[in-house]
Amino acid sequence: MAKKRDSWGSRLGIIMAVAGSAIGLGNFLRFPAKAASNGGGAFMIPYFISLFLLGIPLMWIEWTLGRYGGGFEHGTAPGIFHSVWQKNRFIKYFGIIGIFGPLVIFIYYTYIEAWTFAYSFFALSGKYSHIVDQASMQSFLSGFQGLEQNQYFNGLGVAYLFFVLTFIINIWVIYYGIKGGIERLCKWAMPLLFIFGLVLLARVFTLGTPDIAKPSWNIANGFGFLWNPDFSALKSAKVWLEAAGQIFFTLSVGIGVILTYASYLSKGDDVVLSGLTAASTNEVAEVILGGSIIIPAAFVFFGPQNIQSIAQSGVFNLGFVTMPLVLNKLPLAQMMGFFWFFLLFLAGITSSVSLAQPAVAFLEDEFDISRKKAVAIFAAVAFILCHAAVLFLKNGVVDELDFWGGTFFLVLFATIETILFGWVFGIDKAWDEIHKGADMRVPKIYKFIIKYITPLFLFIILGMWFWQQWLPIIFMKNVSAADKPFILGTRIGLVLIFLVLAILVKIAWKKKKLLTERM
Ligand code: ALA
Repeated sequence: MAKKRDSWGSRLGIIMAVAGSAIGLGNFLRFPAKAASNGGGAFMIPYFISLFLLGIPLMWIEWTLGRYGGGFEHGTAPGIFHSVWQKNRFIKYFGIIGIFGPLVIFIYYTYIEAWTFAYSFFALSGKYSHIVDQASMQSFLSGFQGLEQNQYFNGLGVAYLFFVLTFIINIWVIYYGIKGGIERLCKWAMPLLFIFGLVLLARVFTLGTPDIAKPSWNIANGFGFLWNPDFSALKSAKVWLEAAGQIFFTLSVGIGVILTYASYLSKGDDVVLSGLTAASTNEVAEVILGGSIIIPAAFVFFGPQNIQSIAQSGVFNLGFVTMPLVLNKLPLAQMMGFFWFFLLFLAGITSSVSLAQPAVAFLEDEFDISRKKAVAIFAAVAFILCHAAVLFLKNGVVDELDFWGGTFFLVLFATIETILFGWVFGIDKAWDEIHKGADMRVPKIYKFIIKYITPLFLFIILGMWFWQQWLPIIFMKNVSAADKPFILGTRIGLVLIFLVLAILVKIAWKKKKLLTERM
């Protein structure tokens, strides 16, 4: 007899868990960097358009498809897609992206999460508190990442230790399952994250004009820098792509994790209000907290010229170099530094456990093995794979994984889901399915949006990507000769992961077929 699937303990529990999955490093590091370097306030126009035309519809689509698939004892996309389109023999293979994507993101995400954990300790113990200039803080980070040997670190040892610790905590949480692990973690981590965020926000709001010799470097102008629109940015396809990409990444849609989380719902559980609540919570954390901490704070200390180049120099510099420098200039620097990095750690871990869950659910549901065994297999495989990010960060492997796992496949997967939902399942049936047990009605306009606008928007994004970026990326135009073997190696690795998953899907379905024939 098949074993009973796990389930959520409460409605608040799943909302917290989905919000926990959504609120992550993307909200506090990726969002401010993207907004500041892509037209400031103007970035928010494509951002909000993408939220309403892509993010929210996909949120509902994934909650509904997940709950539907859970009714057939499937918690991942191969099984869920197959339940929706039973006549099609190939659709389950498209579903592999919903396990592949989160696994690929997990490989590098956990490592970055480990940095936030390590920096929480460094902040508390004052390890970097004497550093007051950009160059030294940068070399502290590079030393920690093992990119150079310097007076702060000699080798990757400390980073590796924190990676192992972070990895173990992740595995420990998923080992205890949906209710006992993930839900329990998110129920205390999310409120704590908001408390830390609000404290930091209050601190930033009261920064005033720290340097009276530079009166224009004040907090009001700091907010202005992020929010004043530069409308010329709207003409750039890149800005639109990045805004849409940010919506996917931040809401955790197009990844596959919400399908899995929603598969542990019961048939009559609401998805409309719950999905909307989780998405709104994420947006508050992103736009209000994420948008108000790092950029305005950095502005008042570094001024408009420097901040632009800092934002463009990448997500890590803002979070791990600029922010500790800013906090070092303020009273209670060690405590504030801890709040910042531990906030990032909480945001990270509540997301990374969700990235691990699809692979675990796939093994449990499709091979009928126990959770403990599934978690053990996942831990062994993921631990090995994570070493690609740990050891080859300097060769651009993390960026490569982020591009495929965290950007390209999200859009592709979302396109498949939307077509399946609005066209194969059929929008009328889909509409009924969304509203089963619903606590509110979805505005009628969304019937039209889900069927026509969302897929059209997705096709345009994919089309633009192929038109503008396809060739340089495939031929590694912007990769240095020294890094090419590493990038090629990463790609071969990704293809192999995909193939292994495809073989597993084939075996699982064959076994099931034999079983039903025998019955
Ligand atoms: N949604 C997660 C984040 O924003 C992955 O970091």
